[in-house]
Amino acid sequence: MLDFRPELSAIWAQLQLTAADTPNVAALFKQEPQRVSDLTLEAAGLRVDLSKNKVSQQQLKLLLEFAAQSPLNHHRSALFEGKPINSSESRAVLHPALRDFGDIAALTSEYRDTVYLQRARMLTAAEQIRSGEWLGHTGKPITDIINIGIGGSDLGPKLVYEALREFRHNTLAVHFISNVDGAEIYSLLKTLNPETTLVAIASKTFTTQETLLNAKTTLAWLRQGLDIEQVEASSHVVALTASAANAVSYGVAPERVLPFEEWVGGRYSLWSSIGFGIACAIGGEAFSELLQGAHALDKHFAEAPLDQNIPVLMALIGIWNINFLGYPTQAVIPYCERLGLLSAYLQQLDMESNGKSTLRDNTRANTATGPIVWGQTGTNGQHAFFQLMHQGTHTIPVEFIGALQDTLSDATHHRTLLVNMIAQASALMSGKPAPDGQAYRDYPGDKPSTIILIEQLTPASLGALIALYEHKVFVQGSLWGINSFDQWGVELGKKLTNDLLPKEADLSEFDASTQTLMGLINARL
Ligand code: F6P
Repeated sequence: MLDFRPELSAIWAQLQLTAADTPNVAALFKQEPQRVSDLTLEAAGLRVDLSKNKVSQQQLKLLLEFAAQSPLNHHRSALFEGKPINSSESRAVLHPALRDFGDIAALTSEYRDTVYLQRARMLTAAEQIRSGEWLGHTGKPITDIINIGIGGSDLGPKLVYEALREFRHNTLAVHFISNVDGAEIYSLLKTLNPETTLVAIASKTFTTQETLLNAKTTLAWLRQGLDIEQVEASSHVVALTASAANAVSYGVAPERVLPFEEWVGGRYSLWSSIGFGIACAIGGEAFSELLQGAHALDKHFAEAPLDQNIPVLMALIGIWNINFLGYPTQAVIPYCERLGLLSAYLQQLDMESNGKSTLRDNTRANTATGPIVWGQTGTNGQHAFFQLMHQGTHTIPVEFIGALQDTLSDATHHRTLLVNMIAQASALMSGKPAPDGQAYRDYPGDKPSTIILIEQLTPASLGALIALYEHKVFVQGSLWGINSFDQWGVELGKKLTNDLLPKEADLSEFDASTQTLMGLINARL
């Protein structure tokens, strides 16, 4: 039984009662002398300091009891066993199987061979491109790959490509086109040579409007540039998809369809052949390290007891912030410019997973659910929205992320960067009273934060970091009683776009504002 209503748990009411008495965060450090060591955990190369959160160890114990009495353990086993926990679509959710190295007892081995074969095909293709063996129509090696995909078929690969800049092939570039905004694809195509360009159409379903239109435009450019009719079937096009049949009927040569399985959710797919652009950029060995990093975190999540389990503790603190302290947003601030796309990636991972108000039992949620996730890199954010975080009327919990070393930087820059992060977390928590008569200089403090440290930004540490967030989101969905793996909320907008697209569309059913605005568009386009 997967259903759960958190507010019906007796502990929920107790948590509500105790939340009103939560001390100031700085005071918690005085009351709990072991707080830093008790609330700092390490796993898979991540060091996570939870001590600056506004939760006492007693309250955290209660949150852990709530988790222990919920179906979380059952959900976690069901995930790893490949049970159809995506109940609205009757599907398993097995992204940990994409990074299976055979040592997680709970993880089903049913798909090991399939995953291995699919990965081997994808890595072989990537290696042929990297080595120059994969030739275009006119006999030239590939220098540029355009990944055409959106949502999960874009954000994960793009994040990893940017983050692992240091590990990239030096003559091969990957470009990411997601938005249906034609200015993007047309601008990019002006800079590329069709003879040396490979188009990777990345779409789990192979039906996504934006992706198919961008692909159509790009293939027309290839067709014209190369003077071949069946350009879809040429060596300039690969498909990354769970719908091989759709890709083949689109015209892609079957040997250039790099498949993955239906049980890979779009926003969990960077580990599958959707990661083709990553593998082309960083090579098979580094891609495997990325998988190993995520796997190490999977193992920790699958096996660590709840009170030592980092994704579980981060999820519980998130629930505490949202449901008991009333802080609805979550800022994620990496002190590393190469992680600049992390918040965009996490917005899909978290908000498409848990941005729901209907529970698994088909009833409305009575509690708040997924947070509004946002952020950007430090130190840039400090000179933009940190003002509101220090002195505004909203309390914004922050997850800071830093790497202890950076081989692309130097000691002066890197120390300055990290010290900024530590100083901000400290200022947010401790605050500072205003001098007499200068209330505008009051820093109230008491703002919660978590600090995640990695040794260095490598494929392995990045894999672990992403998997940490995947599991945090999973735990929160489980504890809110949500199916985190569907996304029905995006369907209505897609349907209305299709209804409105034909110029002769009947507008009479639409509101007056929509009719007027469509009139303006119809007069021009
Ligand atoms: O926005 C909805 C969504 O279905 C996402 O969940 C998904 O990642 C994205 O569209 C792209 O879908 P596809 O990979 O099938 O093109």
